Amino acid sequence: MRTNSQLSNKLVRGLSKILGQEFVTFWLEQAGSTQSTDRCLAEVVSIDRETQDAVSLWLRPNALFTGFEAGQHVNLSVSIEGVVHTRSYSFSSAPTTDGLVRLTIKQTPTGLVSRHVVNNLEVGTIVELGDVFGDMTLSNTQPKLTEQRPTMLLLAAGSGITPMISLIESLEAKNWPADVTLMSWARNPADVLFDQLLKSKAAASEHFKYVRLLEDGANEAEGDLTGRPSAAQFKKVAGNLAQSDVYACGPDGFMTALRSIVGDKPKSFHAESFTPMALSVDENAEVKTFTVTLTKSNRIVEVSNNKPLLKALQEQGINPPHGCGMGICNTCSCEKLTGTTQNMQNKSVCGSNNTALRLCISAAQGPVSLDL
Ligand SMILES: Cc1cc2nc3c(=O)[nH]c(=O)nc-3n(C[C@H](O)[C@H](O)[C@H](O)COP(=O)(O)OP(=O)(O)OC[C@H]3O[C@@H](n4cnc5c(N)ncnc54)[C@H](O)[C@@H]3O)c2cc1C
Ligand code: FES
Repeated sequence: MRTNSQLSNKLVRGLSKILGQEFVTFWLEQAGSTQSTDRCLAEVVSIDRETQDAVSLWLRPNALFTGFEAGQHVNLSVSIEGVVHTRSYSFSSAPTTDGLVRLTIKQTPTGLVSRHVVNNLEVGTIVELGDVFGDMTLSNTQPKLTEQRPTMLLLAAGSGITPMISLIESLEAKNWPADVTLMSWARNPADVLFDQLLKSKAAASEHFKYVRLLEDGANEAEGDLTGRPSAAQFKKVAGNLAQSDVYACGPDGFMTALRSIVGDKPKSFHAESFTPMALSVDENAEVKTFTVTLTKSNRIVEVSNNKPLLKALQEQGINPPHGCGMGICNTCSCEKLTGTTQNMQNKSVCGSNNTALRLCISAAQGPVSLDL
């Protein structure tokens, strides 16, 4: 395990001025330090195995970490065989006062980063955290939480449980100012994340109800229900949804199923999907290639009009900063100096110059120049 040797911030700033920030941060990182004048580095202080294919990382970020609200996400960068890869993860704990944050990562079968984190990451490793983002927070969705007692229905599948745990712990820390029900879907009992923790919270408070919905191995005597999301399950657990503020998180297919079941019945519906929605340009459009000029790096590359610019650039060995890959974290945003692009999610076309462009969801529709 590496030691987290901390030099005084004054010394680090002085050395950075003389030797350059990148050089000093690199060598501090090699020495196991999270100190940096410009990057939010974090040390992995412990790893909890949650299920066979999921772990929780407890991280201690450096002083550049600006904190988070329950329900938010962060971009995590890890180095795998010398190459840095970035993915988005939700905080799976409420904000704490001890400076630690928890992320819970479930391995996807062919996933590069999740498999590395679940199987190879070690305590003492230094990782990097990007900007915190996400609107499914209590301050955003429940501005009157102290005046009213809402009925909150939390719906989660797979790793979608992570922001729910953060919200639940945050509500518990506020002594349950809401009546909360969590419906957690999983394949079988061994696959359920945070099962014991949730059972003990439910046993300790009349304001928190926890229901597991399992494809296999449901124990009806313990209150489990069987199967994928269905109207019957909602009728049994949630009753009339008109009084409920619904929060949902999980893979795209799960979210689509939920939307078709609950429709516009709930008082409010807040959703986060962890899998990118399908991106496309006009299906009848002819496939063409256009030049993209990268003014800072002085490069000109050819990209096709039916691919997000981020992917097209990555295929040519150019790796701009990025995170969620689905247009929500803004990490890939850069200035489009000239040219026309299409948003591949909502199909809107933008021909204005000097505008912010999210590379992960935009395709070139003509020659483009970027401040990259
Ligand atoms: C806002 C946000 C919050 C997230 N929070 C969490 C979290 O708290 N815990 C967590 O475990 N994951 C979370 N994710 C998903 C995470 O960012 C990665 O997508 C996931 O870990 C897979 O990355 P990978 O590098 O292992 O897979 P990649 O190598 O990027 O992809 C490999 C394959 O897996 C598929 N794939 C990619 N992502 C998923 C996915 N989420 N589910 C199923 N298949 C997928 C891809 O289509 C591809 O075929 C979140 C995603 C977003 C956008
Ligand atoms: S990578 Fe998150 S918005 Fe593009």
